[in-house]
Amino acid sequence: MAGPHAMTTEGNRVKQHEVQTIPLSGISAELAARFDARTATVAVVGLGYVGLPMTRAMHDAGYGVVGFDIDGAKIEALTSATAYLKHLGQELYDELAASNRFVPTADASRLAEADAVIICVPTPLDSANRPDLRYVESSTQLVADHLRAGQLVVLTSTSYPGTTREVSGAILSAAAKQRGLELGRDVFLAFSPEREDPGRTSHTTRTTPRLVGGLSETDTELARRLFVPAVDTVVPVSTAEVAESAKLLENIYRAVNIALVNELKPALAAMGVDIWEAIDAASTKPFGYQAFYPGPGLGGHCIPIDPFYLSWRAASLGKPTRFIELAGEINRRRPAHVVDTLRDELAARDQPLRGARVLVMGLAYKKNVDDVRETPAAEIIRLLLQAGGWVSYHDPHIARFPLMRKYDFDMESARLTPEQLGAQDAVLIVTDHDAVDYQLLADHAKLILDTRNVMAKFKSGKATIVKA
Ligand SMILES: NC(=O)c1ccc[n+]([C@@H]2O[C@H](COP(=O)([O-])OP(=O)(O)OC[C@H]3O[C@@H](n4cnc5c(N)ncnc54)[C@H](O)[C@@H]3O)[C@@H](O)[C@H]2O)c1
Repeated sequence: MAGPHAMTTEGNRVKQHEVQTIPLSGISAELAARFDARTATVAVVGLGYVGLPMTRAMHDAGYGVVGFDIDGAKIEALTSATAYLKHLGQELYDELAASNRFVPTADASRLAEADAVIICVPTPLDSANRPDLRYVESSTQLVADHLRAGQLVVLTSTSYPGTTREVSGAILSAAAKQRGLELGRDVFLAFSPEREDPGRTSHTTRTTPRLVGGLSETDTELARRLFVPAVDTVVPVSTAEVAESAKLLENIYRAVNIALVNELKPALAAMGVDIWEAIDAASTKPFGYQAFYPGPGLGGHCIPIDPFYLSWRAASLGKPTRFIELAGEINRRRPAHVVDTLRDELAARDQPLRGARVLVMGLAYKKNVDDVRETPAAEIIRLLLQAGGWVSYHDPHIARFPLMRKYDFDMESARLTPEQLGAQDAVLIVTDHDAVDYQLLADHAKLILDTRNVMAKFKSGKATIVKA
């Protein structure tokens, strides 16, 4: 990138030591010095899937951390070291509860203690698939209510380009003015997208490169200096809008490529080709190809939602984004397609889906986590029940079906025994958790519909296996 942040790239990696620092003066120089010396206090607003790992990273960096959430249950849990996101490990909760550098609180006035406030609140879609920025607005307003000179605010929540400047910026700017302060001179604002991938063990908050883009060069430089003690590679970009766009690009790239293989799967199957084998074959090319795999539909907080933040913004500017719309359409149809495949397989055995016993394997939206947000398993179960199936589920990480925004099923995880499996008309694998004995399935189920190709790794047994 040219300009004051000039740097070289080596593949996708940016070398941090080659990032040129921007000269700061006055209040911004004092703030940066506190980051450099790690004597700053950092507030993390929103202590969920993103905010809690962020809290750990900031605490590990040596900062004092105020963890703020409007959900009192999370504050109580953090005070008593009760793990509410289990994949992060009990040690984190023990360490934070015992630390004299960590304060969990639901008292917004404590935000005034912070030199930097990092906002990690949800950015869902509303019922018409439009961005719902109410959490960004309300959390920014809380920060604004306690704003003081010498604070840096960093928004991490995924949103469309322009959100930081137009939404958070407007709220903070108004509050600053009321106090005789000015955004960009006395208080600072930047965007730094979150790349957290719950359950992934290959990367941590520290080892995942972090983008920062501010409203001005000064804001960008302050955000960079905030993260340098906590993250190995911090990559400044020229504006907040570039950082916002980069995050959406990453997730749109995934959504579109997943839709592509989801669409190709039945097409190749009709030609007698197993798409997983074709993907493995294509993956031997050492450049120019990245493997994406078909599945039962999208889940989680990011891929099913984020692309529509961009398509909504683009549509409002008269620029259609057809790839996003098409990928959404294909991916959303997957749960129904999986149920149709099951119906066809049963029909081929002269059995209707109505009255059939179906065991759904895995509720979580991806393997080895207990996260059910937007999980396709919920829609698959709804469709199976609607078709008159007798549905049960097994998930080693989710003992009871949690109440969801759109779904409320009174179900408990079934035990996996040879008798239980033998009594099913079909077993439908939605999530390929490692903690499942798939050989037991192969040996005792009659029919297995496998949306993840997990059964390919096990010896064939009594069960007929259909890749769905
Ligand atoms: N979950 C992921 O894997 C992931 C990955 C990358 C990016 N993101 C993005 O990060 C953002 C946060 O997602 P998340 O998964 O951490 O959400 P989450 O629901 O797990 O946590 C959000 C937290 O914010 C709190 N909150 C809501 N309003 C608040 C307010 N006004 N003040 C203080 N706290 C408030 C909630 O109580 C909750 O604890 C979203 O924009 C999401 O798209 C998520």
